[in-house]
Amino acid sequence: MVSELGLGGHEYRRPLPTTLSKWGEIDMETFVATQPMRNEIVKRAIGAGINYFDVTHMEEVMSLGNALKSLGIEREKIYIAAMIVFPFRKMGENPRSKWADIIKGEMERILNTLHAKYIDVFNLHFPENNYSREKFSVFMSVVAEAREEGKVRWVGASSHEPRFLAELIRRHDCFDVIMVRYNYYLQEAKDVLFPLCRMMEIGVVTMKPFCWPYYGIPFIKFGPVEGEEGSPYAPAQLCLKWILKAPEVSTVVPSMNSLNELEENLDAISKEGKIDEKILCKYLKAATGPEAKEKLKKMMSDPNIDIRFFAERVLSEMEAS
Ligand SMILES: NC(=O)c1ccc[n+]([C@@H]2O[C@H](COP(=O)([O-])OP(=O)(O)OC[C@H]3O[C@@H](n4cnc5c(N)ncnc54)[C@H](OP(=O)(O)O)[C@@H]3O)[C@@H](O)[C@H]2O)c1
Repeated sequence: MVSELGLGGHEYRRPLPTTLSKWGEIDMETFVATQPMRNEIVKRAIGAGINYFDVTHMEEVMSLGNALKSLGIEREKIYIAAMIVFPFRKMGENPRSKWADIIKGEMERILNTLHAKYIDVFNLHFPENNYSREKFSVFMSVVAEAREEGKVRWVGASSHEPRFLAELIRRHDCFDVIMVRYNYYLQEAKDVLFPLCRMMEIGVVTMKPFCWPYYGIPFIKFGPVEGEEGSPYAPAQLCLKWILKAPEVSTVVPSMNSLNELEENLDAISKEGKIDEKILCKYLKAATGPEAKEKLKKMMSDPNIDIRFFAERVLSEMEAS
């Protein structure tokens, strides 16, 4: 029931330069000023049939909530996946007696900010981070209660650790949906999780389609590469098609910061053609080979603050090694 292409929540971030230096803190003036632009993206996405919206940080929830409200979108038209960021860490910073209230309170905050009565998929964010059996059990019982009250429809998990997530699924069979990183560089989920999800009827949402092999930098920044002119797909499109080739993947949720990106990604979904994996392989080589440093140095003057930030990080890691 979900569209193959979903909309990732981080789309709000790139045009908001203050977010990165202080993660999670935003300049409200810029946020409000850029809301109409994000509304346009949400409007076009829904108009084109996108119905799966993932939100992580509170600003993303706020952005989507504002957009849906001002566009007058009927809640039933779309699926919203939301989460509390690092819930186990938050629980761990508080006494055991407060855990359930923390989760309930954060869930209410998300619902209020979305102007919604329910969340479709409530994801357990990073279960591998600060995990304990007790925290897991409290978290799941609060979510089960919310489900009975009609505040949550399905329970999911968003993880960077496919093996840990697979273990949780085997032990508890507690998730309807999972969200994992899956792209040409990070393929572990395909072996470790996809067959399990298929057998156990668990939906698979994939995140981070473009930002590989380095965090925060879309692979296309390392191109162009030889052979791509002959492909029926632009590189980003090729990457989406490659991800969606896996039959277990229900939807992929890239961040899209402009209508142009959205149109290009929508176009990928609607057309058919040869998915030339060799091109993706060449991108990977370009991003990890000797010429990568020069490209990364060039990115230091990219107008996008995220790109500058992450390129600098990768360069300093390269220098160190
Ligand atoms: N729950 C979690 O822990 C968690 C963590 C990470 C991500 N996520 C989810 O996964 C989503 C995606 O992750 P992400 O934003 O980190 O990575 P991503 O989707 O792989 O990369 C997004 C970037 O790709 C570029 N892009 C998009 N469409 C393009 C196109 N057609 N052509 C060229 N470039 C294009 C944009 O960069 P430019 O600005 O350079 O154009 C955009 O910011 C997030 O929005 C979020 O919903 C969740």
